[in-house]
Amino acid sequence: MNTEQTVSTFVDFFRERGHQRITGDSLLPPPGDPVLFTTSGMHPLTPYLEGRPHPLGRRLVGLQRCLRTTDLDEVGDSTHLTVFEMLGSWSLGNYDGSQSLRWGYELLRDGYGLHPDRLHVTVFGGDEEVGPDTESLRTWNELGVPVELTGEDNWWSNGPTGPCGPDSEIFVWTGDMPPRGTPSTDPQWVEVWNHVKMRYRRHDDGRLEPLVQTSIDTGLGLERLVTILQKKGSVFECDVFEPWMSVIPTVWGADQTSLRIIVDHLRSGIVVIGDGITPSNTGRGYVLRRLVRRVLTILWRDDSTRTLSDLPVDLLEHTRDHFRQTSDVGHVRDVLLTEERRFLGLLERGRVVLSRQGLTGGPLTEEQYDYLHDTHGLPRELVLGLLTPNRADGVAPR
Ligand code: SER
Repeated sequence: MNTEQTVSTFVDFFRERGHQRITGDSLLPPPGDPVLFTTSGMHPLTPYLEGRPHPLGRRLVGLQRCLRTTDLDEVGDSTHLTVFEMLGSWSLGNYDGSQSLRWGYELLRDGYGLHPDRLHVTVFGGDEEVGPDTESLRTWNELGVPVELTGEDNWWSNGPTGPCGPDSEIFVWTGDMPPRGTPSTDPQWVEVWNHVKMRYRRHDDGRLEPLVQTSIDTGLGLERLVTILQKKGSVFECDVFEPWMSVIPTVWGADQTSLRIIVDHLRSGIVVIGDGITPSNTGRGYVLRRLVRRVLTILWRDDSTRTLSDLPVDLLEHTRDHFRQTSDVGHVRDVLLTEERRFLGLLERGRVVLSRQGLTGGPLTEEQYDYLHDTHGLPRELVLGLLTPNRADGVAPR
């Protein structure tokens, strides 16, 4: 089953059960939302999970692209991505959590062909504020799926305030040997699908207020599921990454971890630019800037003549089309190349300034960092990179 079929199987399953498809496309959250990027499938639905009626009704299904910077340092391993996609189903005060879990089990078993023996779940076991989620526990017992009870790992919130509640996470066994242990004792149990009961709202003062209605929010990491269905060892081996993983090594040789970072960051950067962002020193533009500069740092570590001009346009188009964007790839390319030039110029200026001031030996005092920043426009990170050439976070010298 390829990625596209994995999406349509999910969407069709829920449409057949009365869910309306929502188009969750942009990475940019709705106006007024304080976060920089959409971080999960439910994010754009926050007001509706808090009780506002949704124009499409009480049962929704969708696919949402998401961006998480919290995982940036993990990119390069087999599961983490900066931009990824989440399938989701929602009951806005309609059916209960037990129904959601039963459908989840049915879809994984019958729709995706996962053997029930390879499933394990976790359920909220209660804490000092809220009692255990006995409804989910009972449902999984009836379905015969092993349960592990946990505390805060099964409490979902999108931030310190806002809608939240207990969740039940479904894990799939990915090991070669028969399943063993539990999700918290063996990493070969990989989480794929989270079912959250949005029953509360957390206020600024920490108070937990019950919502008028309980909604169900589920999120399934698309690339992770596809990795399991396609029996691959990492997300980068799945079909959507194939063009990137086969072409990039022919353009720029790199070790496996660097290759994954280059692919993840460029692909993510292309999507972010496609959603209307350009590099800058603050906010969303800064996230984009870090992604592009980190790629350049890695590329230049091995060969200082490398340039993003060599990035094949086919890859830009493939990514744009996969994420259902309509951006002009010429514009996306220009943004990348402009950032490359700017970074190069800044590095050259930084090197000259440090050498003229006799600062190349480091370490520098806070006053010196302030001076370089305020007088010469050299950010601390960049100066640090010039002083320690092997840093891999986007600021090494050329
Ligand atoms: N909110 C849950 C998550 O992000 C399910 O959508 O995992």
